[in-house]
Amino acid sequence: MNPQPAAQSPAWDMTRRTVLRSTAIAAAVAGTLDVAAQTPPPLTLVNTSAQADPPPQILKTQLTVNGRTHVLEADARTTLLDALREHLKLAGTKKGCDHGQCGACTVLVDGRRINSCLTLAAMHDSQAITTIEGLAKEQELHPIQAAFLKHDGFQCGYCTPGQICSTVGMLAEVKLGMPSHVSASITGRPGPLTDEEIRERMSGNICRCSAYPNIVAAIREVAAQPGVTS
Ligand code: FES
Ligand code: FES
Repeated sequence: MNPQPAAQSPAWDMTRRTVLRSTAIAAAVAGTLDVAAQTPPPLTLVNTSAQADPPPQILKTQLTVNGRTHVLEADARTTLLDALREHLKLAGTKKGCDHGQCGACTVLVDGRRINSCLTLAAMHDSQAITTIEGLAKEQELHPIQAAFLKHDGFQCGYCTPGQICSTVGMLAEVKLGMPSHVSASITGRPGPLTDEEIRERMSGNICRCSAYPNIVAAIREVAAQPGVTS
């Protein structure tokens, strides 16, 4: 005869109910805490007018470009590139990267080549600025312009004003005896302007069409003319 299961004692039953009730209470509390943890903090009102940009500071600058003097009144943060293109409407100087990486914006300031996107117009008050528009004399092309035409030193032409201005500045640097990273000596005069020298010295001017062989050929021809680099 199978023994009858023993009736559960009231003491055990109380214990189980107590455990279940405790668990339910704990879950409810935990749920409450969880909801509290997910509740976003109250919004704080910020006075945005206190953080707005200050009004632009307008500066008056005298820009001498291609022999003509202009008085520019513009935001002090205006780059030389934007001053030339947007204010003086000299759009020959190109904006490629606007970050000093492509050389499309190269102009000459007091005879030295610079990236006009990396400098402020107000820094060049009364200096002599030359852009691609100022290289030709009347109807006669600058020798470097003529050489680029002769050697097809371009395809789309977007980089070409910068390439030509940069070449003018680069040949002046060679004439002054400034070495490059591939010059054999950094103290003596640089040697002949080899293709390697030309490529290194022009490495700041990027041509997306990759017209480099023809650009180098054009520069090589101009550099070989008497008095250009020596
Ligand atoms: S636009 Fe100035 S370096 Fe590219
Ligand atoms: S000719 Fe097109 S980027 Fe140089």
